[in-house]
This record gives sequence, structure tokens and C-alpha cells, in this order.
Amino acid sequence: MRNTFGNTVTVTLFGESHGSAVGAVIDGLPAGLPVDTALMEKRMMLRHGDPAVSTARREPDTVLFESGVFRGHTTGSPLCLRIENRDVNDTPYEETGTLARPSHADYPLYARYGEWADRRGGGHASGRLTAPLVATGAIAETALAGVGVAAATQILSLGNLTGRRFSLRPEKDLSVRALALPTLAETFSHQIKEAVFAAKAEGKSLGGVTETVICGLPAGVGEPFFDTLEGMLAHATFAVPAVKGIAFGDGFDLTHRTAPETNDTLYSENGEIRHATNHMGGIDGGMSNGNPVVFTCAVKPTPSVPVAQKTVELTTGEEKEINVTGRHDPAVITRISPVLTAVAELTVLDLLCTRFGTDFITKDL
Ligand SMILES: Cc1cc2nc3c(=O)[nH]c(=O)nc-3n(C[C@H](O)[C@H](O)[C@H](O)COP(=O)(O)O)c2cc1C
Repeated sequence: MRNTFGNTVTVTLFGESHGSAVGAVIDGLPAGLPVDTALMEKRMMLRHGDPAVSTARREPDTVLFESGVFRGHTTGSPLCLRIENRDVNDTPYEETGTLARPSHADYPLYARYGEWADRRGGGHASGRLTAPLVATGAIAETALAGVGVAAATQILSLGNLTGRRFSLRPEKDLSVRALALPTLAETFSHQIKEAVFAAKAEGKSLGGVTETVICGLPAGVGEPFFDTLEGMLAHATFAVPAVKGIAFGDGFDLTHRTAPETNDTLYSENGEIRHATNHMGGIDGGMSNGNPVVFTCAVKPTPSVPVAQKTVELTTGEEKEINVTGRHDPAVITRISPVLTAVAELTVLDLLCTRFGTDFITKDL
């Protein structure tokens, strides 16, 4: 099992949903980067989502720094942050024992690690591991703000609910200032709540589509062949539990249109090279092209639903019925925006540091 992401600034996640704590070790950061705990707390609160449509598990999510921070700044040595699990209830997992919960990681974990895996609440494969991801993202966010790069995510659709009102199409003039409104991009409306309640009342859950935008990235970021900007963003994004698809720019929509309309033509303005449109989502040849980077994600419906489902007893292979109990998010998507923003931030921080060297973050370009 390898649990590290990145090449230059690396992130290793540790912990289990029902263990004593979850956390992250971030290595490769420059020294002297401010660690903005107020910003971190804000991002952690965003991840909690709206209590009306989130899990009943209530975690304080206080971030404790074990190493790598001194006088509010990074020291340059590995930064270890830890978030204690305070509101754990094992009972539902004792009741279901070794029954595999459908569309959870239970069966693959058992196939690979046998009875050694801690599957309570999904163990290491749980959405709980996104708490340290968000905390780490806040460190990256501060680093990126210093060089004029910002990211935000919003919900584009939920179940069959779609509409321009949830949309923030990044046009070529979308500035970093416009993106400095994560609350606008990440709040969800009354209509979304109603849809979640309606599904929940029927014992169902909902998925949807998110859109993430990264602004201010200079052209030429991303390694040209394997560790491309698309490849690395997809790599990090698929680490987020419940993400089943990613598309850049106009994505699958490009396939039933024709070039040249799908091409982003170039022009020059005050000596700067720009693009008239952004069908490619700000990426050409695996590298940023100076346009905002735009990607959408497919988020699946929460697999835990309180209805009887067919399954198998992992240890005996016996077919059984399971009724998944416990505390769950009726629609994971309502909490996923700050997580997707965090992985986008970590990815571009890593690629920027790969291109310019780690210390450029704390210096003027
Ligand atoms: C913030 C967050 C919270 C989640 N909460 C739940 C939950 O309460 N119940 C659940 O069944 N799945 C939840 N998930 C999704 C599961 O963790 C995920 O579907 C499962 O581990 C299987 O992984 P996969 O969907 O990536 O294949 C959550 C995911 C995230 C990102």
C-alpha cells in the first residue's frame, strides 16, 4: 500500500475512520511559509457542509501540528498534522461484521488484506481521510496565493437538478479576484437541500457533477508526457472517495462537435499571448496554456443507504442481505467541493515546485 502523492511536495495520508486519528505528512515544503490556521479552520468547516444534509457524526476536526511548524511558519522539515477522531461509534460495524457493504471498499480490502484491514467505517478508504487532505490544501492555498494562483469548486448538478444558477462558467477574463469567493462557489441552495431530503425519504442517495477552476497558473506547468497537468489532477482527484469521473474543459461534449469550432484560437494583447475561448480547460499538451484550468468531476451517490441489499459474507462466501446502518452523508457531493479544491491546490503546488524549485514559493518570481 502506497499512500503518497506528488513528486516535489509530497503528501502522505495516515489513519482510519474509526482509529484514534487521521492525518497527513507533507514533505518538500519551503521554510518560512505562513501556516494560516484561521484559513485552515474555515476550510475544515466548509468540509463539514450543512448539518441538515450531512452525516450525524460530529467531529471537532481540530488540527494539531506534530512537526514542521515553528512560530506559525513552516520549518522546511516534514510537516505532520493530526486530527483526532472524537465521535466514533463501532456498533453498526460490529452488527454487520464481515458482510460486504455494496459499492464500498469492503470487498477489495478483504481480497487484498484479508481480516487484517480495519474496515470499520471504510477504514483507510473512508471519506474521513479527506479531513487531512483539506487541512493540507489550506497550506497549499496560502503558498499559491503568494504567487497569484487560486482554486475553487462548485456543484454543477445534483441528481436531475441542473441549472445555470449553480454554474460559474470560467470565461477568459475570469480573474483570481472572482475566484476569491469560495463561499459563493461552495454554498448550495435550498433547492439542493430539498432534493437531498426527498431522496433520503425514499431510502435513496444522490450524486452529481462538480466543477473546479484554477486561476492564475502561468503557461507551461505540468510535465509534458507522463506527469501531465491532466494526469496529475486526475491522479489526485481519483484519490477522493466517491469520484468516478473527470473531464477537462468541454470534455465528452467535444466528441460530437468539430474543429475548428472546438479550438481555442490565440491572440496577442499588450504583448501577452491569450486564448479567445477555453474549450480545452486551460491545458494543451499536458501543460497549462494560461487559460483558467477547468475540470468537472462525476461524484457517485453515497453507497450507504438504509435499505435491504443483496451481499455476501466475506469469510464464508454465503449470500446474505445487508441493511447498512450507521451515520452517513445522504449526498457526499454536498461536502466534496473543498476536498476537490484542496487536491487541485496540492497538485498545482507540486507541479509549480517541480518546474520552478520549492523555494520560489516564498520568493518573488
Ligand atoms: C467527504 C466525504 C464523505 C463521505 N461520506 C460517506 C458516507 O457517509 N457514507 C458512505 O457510504 N460513503 C461516504 N463517502 C464515500 C465513500 O467513502 C466511498 O464511496 C467509498 O469509500 C468507496 O470508494 P469509491 O467510491 O471511491 O470507490 C464519503 C466521501 C467523501 C469524500
